[in-house]
Amino acid sequence: MTDATLIDGNAFSAGLRDRIRAQVHTLRETRRITPGLAVVLVGEDPASQVYVRSKHKRTVETGMESFVHTLPADTPEDELLTLIAGLNRDPQVHGILVQLPLPRHIDAQKVIEAIDPAKDVDGFHPVNVGRLAAGGEALVPCTPYGSLLLLKDRLGDLSGLEAVVIGRSNIVGKPMAQLLLQENCTVTIAHSRTRDLPAVVRRADIVVAAVGKPEMVRGDWLKPGCTVIDVGINRVAKPAPEEGTRLVGDVAFAEAVTVAGAITPVPGGVGPMTIACLLRNTLVACARQNRLP
Ligand code: GUN
Repeated sequence: MTDATLIDGNAFSAGLRDRIRAQVHTLRETRRITPGLAVVLVGEDPASQVYVRSKHKRTVETGMESFVHTLPADTPEDELLTLIAGLNRDPQVHGILVQLPLPRHIDAQKVIEAIDPAKDVDGFHPVNVGRLAAGGEALVPCTPYGSLLLLKDRLGDLSGLEAVVIGRSNIVGKPMAQLLLQENCTVTIAHSRTRDLPAVVRRADIVVAAVGKPEMVRGDWLKPGCTVIDVGINRVAKPAPEEGTRLVGDVAFAEAVTVAGAITPVPGGVGPMTIACLLRNTLVACARQNRLP
């Protein structure tokens, strides 16, 4: 059998960002409105610093305003909540993202709930979570939304397909399942207590792996021809005698590529879609706040 088609998240996200840039340009020219995204980083987690820098770069590239707030790791929770209250009131800020994880002394759920749901471009506020589940104008979490765009681009109509989501996080697994359900998939959410995970995964036309365990999903778990979305980004040591580290997904790529019909690589699959969807959410939030169609 031939190897799986690679789903190119770099190319797809570049196209999406181009379309967003054109819409931002029109908004600025015709309405004198510039969408603005505020990103808040507390502490010095190196991975978070990398993410925040690339969010800033992409935001500016699409013609939006980027407001980055970097706070020390020992910032009191009250101070963070006061900053968010100010951003909620600021008419130049249409989207607010607080980078996770937060330092342990800060209650992340309290912080998420302090963000105005209309500006919650992560889609983590209970109002948006509820709207996604019940239908309505939700802002949808970026990584699952980006994964869905890749799936629809590859498969077209998803109606009736068996989808297995591995992982039940609020950031990826649960909203991914909601989105696939909305597309009329038959959805299973598998997790660390699932019995006989390989047998569950073998049913799937669509596999979304979002567990954070390097190369956990093996090639022989997959139904031949299925579509695999690998959300994992895990840094592991290179095999000896090489030195240094490399990035791998939650799926054993070298095995899976010989069985699946299509698969996202890591890096270059889902990763770049997340930021593109964040920009899209900021544009959507800006349009709604200005009552534009
Ligand atoms: N940390 C890892 N992923 C995310 C995300 O999607 N949003 C935020 N705010 N923090 C994250």
